[in-house]
Amino acid sequence: MNPELAAKAAAAREGAHAQYSGFKVGAALETNDGRVFTGSNIESASYGLSVCAERVALWKALSEGALDFREIAVVTDAATITPPCGACRQLLWEYCGDIHIQLRSIRGLSAEYRLAELLPFPFDDRNL
Ligand code: THU
Repeated sequence: MNPELAAKAAAAREGAHAQYSGFKVGAALETNDGRVFTGSNIESASYGLSVCAERVALWKALSEGALDFREIAVVTDAATITPPCGACRQLLWEYCGDIHIQLRSIRGLSAEYRLAELLPFPFDDRNL
């Protein structure tokens, strides 16, 4: 686990556009060669168009040509640990595989997982 990744996710969280939910999230996604791509959640008045911090980080990384990932950190200020939503689990699985996941709240909570623990029976290109 990279202890600096959570700090980068916490900094990215400051860039959240969470004006409807008030729930700011930051993510930091690390490549196997040590590059870090950050993201925050971006919400829309058409609520369903909102995008989670994890996917913003993933889109930034993929669109910059990064392909191999080892870890993601996700930071909120919630009173409980915030796990990635189902859509993010699916996309992280397809593009990152069984990466390490750090989940943190700035209130002091933390948990660590592998993605396969959170998505144990995934649908992916092997099923097509
Ligand atoms: N959200 C994330 O960005 N990541 C998560 O892991 C959970 C939820 C965002 C989506 C929405 O903008 C807000 O949090 C409330 O659901």
